[in-house]
Amino acid sequence: MDLKSESARQTFYWGELLGAILEAGAAICLTGGLGAGKTVFAKGVGKGLGVKEIINSPTFTIIKEYQGRMPFYHLDAYRLKGPSELDDLGCEEYFDGNGVTLIEWADQVAGALPQDRLDITICAGPEAGEIRVISFTPRGERYRRLMEEYGTIVRSGN
Ligand SMILES: Nc1ncnc2c1ncn2[C@@H]1O[C@H](COP(=O)(O)OP(=O)(O)OP(=O)(O)O)[C@@H](O)[C@H]1O
Ligand SMILES: [Mg+2]
Repeated sequence: MDLKSESARQTFYWGELLGAILEAGAAICLTGGLGAGKTVFAKGVGKGLGVKEIINSPTFTIIKEYQGRMPFYHLDAYRLKGPSELDDLGCEEYFDGNGVTLIEWADQVAGALPQDRLDITICAGPEAGEIRVISFTPRGERYRRLMEEYGTIVRSGN
């Protein structure tokens, strides 16, 4: 499924709608270039999960943990040199655990991602501006069901 975003606010909102329906153990893997809007989307997911704290980019800390209606683990693999560095962080504990894990620059650590997950790619349009296309690719049955639910919510015109 593809969603169009015309502003940072809209990207945040698409994230928020997703965050609202995520269940414990969910793995959300974001890919997209510098400034695509991954962190904006992640902030929306956090809001949808009920996180009240301000969510900042974890580029330098690699991982930040928040508490909403469940834990929210926000990772950024930009500075990691490969999948083994993600493994070193012990992130199997995050994936499949008691919270939601969202990772930016997931393509940098593709080999360390769980098989079942939701891949999301954010692409900016050819011209500098605010248009983005956000593509969702579910991997595994659980995420296919999630995307069905998400599609229904998105289409219901929220
Ligand atoms: N449609 C849009 N969706 C998201 N962000 C947008 C959009 N239009 C403009 N922007 C702007 O683009 C920037 C996106 O920044 P953000 O930090 O979310 O990117 P990122 O993909 O996380 O980058 P990085 O790889 O550096 O972490 C923000 O300044 C935001 O205001
Ligand atoms: Mg970011």
